[in-house]
Amino acid sequence: MDAMLVTGGAGFIGSNFVRYTLKHHPETQVVVLDALTYAGNLANIDDCAGTDRFRFVQGDIRDRDTVDDAMRGVDTVVNFAAESHVDRSILDPSSFIETNYNGVYVLLEAARHLEVKRFLQVSTDEVYGHVPAGFSVESDAFAPRSPYAASKAAADLLVQSYFTTYGMPVLITRGGNTVGPYQYPEKVLPLFITNALEYKPLPVYGDGSAVRSYLYVEDHCSAIDRVLRSGEAGNAYNVGTNREVNGRDLAARILEILDRPAGLREFVPDRSGHDLRYALDCGRIQALGWRPSLDFDALLDRTVRWYVDHPQWWREIRNESGFRSYYKKQYDERYQT
Ligand code: NAD
Ligand code: DAU
Repeated sequence: MDAMLVTGGAGFIGSNFVRYTLKHHPETQVVVLDALTYAGNLANIDDCAGTDRFRFVQGDIRDRDTVDDAMRGVDTVVNFAAESHVDRSILDPSSFIETNYNGVYVLLEAARHLEVKRFLQVSTDEVYGHVPAGFSVESDAFAPRSPYAASKAAADLLVQSYFTTYGMPVLITRGGNTVGPYQYPEKVLPLFITNALEYKPLPVYGDGSAVRSYLYVEDHCSAIDRVLRSGEAGNAYNVGTNREVNGRDLAARILEILDRPAGLREFVPDRSGHDLRYALDCGRIQALGWRPSLDFDALLDRTVRWYVDHPQWWREIRNESGFRSYYKKQYDERYQT
């Protein structure tokens, strides 16, 4: 039996990855370390608690003693723990620098001293910055434009330095915009779906021309799994799809699928420094045999259906005072500038 530490495993992608690993790798024991910030939720992993191959530890990746305790005896570490929402990083970058950079440093130091066999850092296509044309390859220069993206880019550089300097067996995945079950409803797709379900306006930033290529969360998990098991140490791997969808059309499609009035689509002041396009060349991970299993129409249908079928999960979050005060603060600032 091998043991894996999944940091940030109570968040969106992390919880899906834990479920994926327990299902596909019966020989693997999973320890989740998660601070349970506003984005962490034990309800995301409550179905995993029934197996003795799963253990949950509440703790912060910035705390070396906690990290050492959780990491001792594990073979692999997969780090999902992060502050992940661009708009929050614009409001206040501090926790992004703390967790996304300093937290990764603590994890790397612990992994180095405990001689972990594989360390995978879950990163993002946002490190390449806004890409007006063409496709990013892994060797491209970084050009992050939000505090979130800059904190992730800085972490990638630090992770790569541990390979070069200490020969640590590190890997990096740079995923695209991921959607699916258990995504906190501040991100565009779950926000639009849950607003539509409640007959509230869908706030499209600017003129709605910014595009994203959406990736289903299970496909993101299978890519991380593939890189973990077959990737070359020291390498980064882009993970994404190439069907570009803009915010205008995304809102219209959701209203259509849920049979809500088209007039619920509302244009609001743009995100500051909004990246208008990301685009990934995924040739390197495709060479490992990975392909996404769902196209845009299928992933949209499946995601909408999950939120329709799990109202209790998202209503509890949307009713929290923290969720409501974040929105108020964001729009107060945005309409002022
Ligand atoms: P999320 O915000 O849903 O989850 C983050 C998790 O990390 C939460 O459970 C939270 O409690 C935990 N966490 C935060 N700070 C912590 C700390 N200091 N110590 C311990 N735990 C802490 O995020 P997500 O969308 O699942 O993203 C996971 C990772 O994937 C992030 O690193 C993000 O940068 C990356 N990523 C996300 C996407 C996407 O579209 N969501 C795409 C590419 C890459
Ligand atoms: O590309 C990978 C990244 O995808 C991850 O690294 C981030 O963690 C994740 O949050 C996501 O970042 P984005 O900024 O692309 O996602 P978000 O859902 O915030 O926005 C997607 C697009 O939708 C973007 O063009 C902004 C727009 N948008 C977003 C929100 C929240 C709106 O038009 N209205 C909204 O209310």
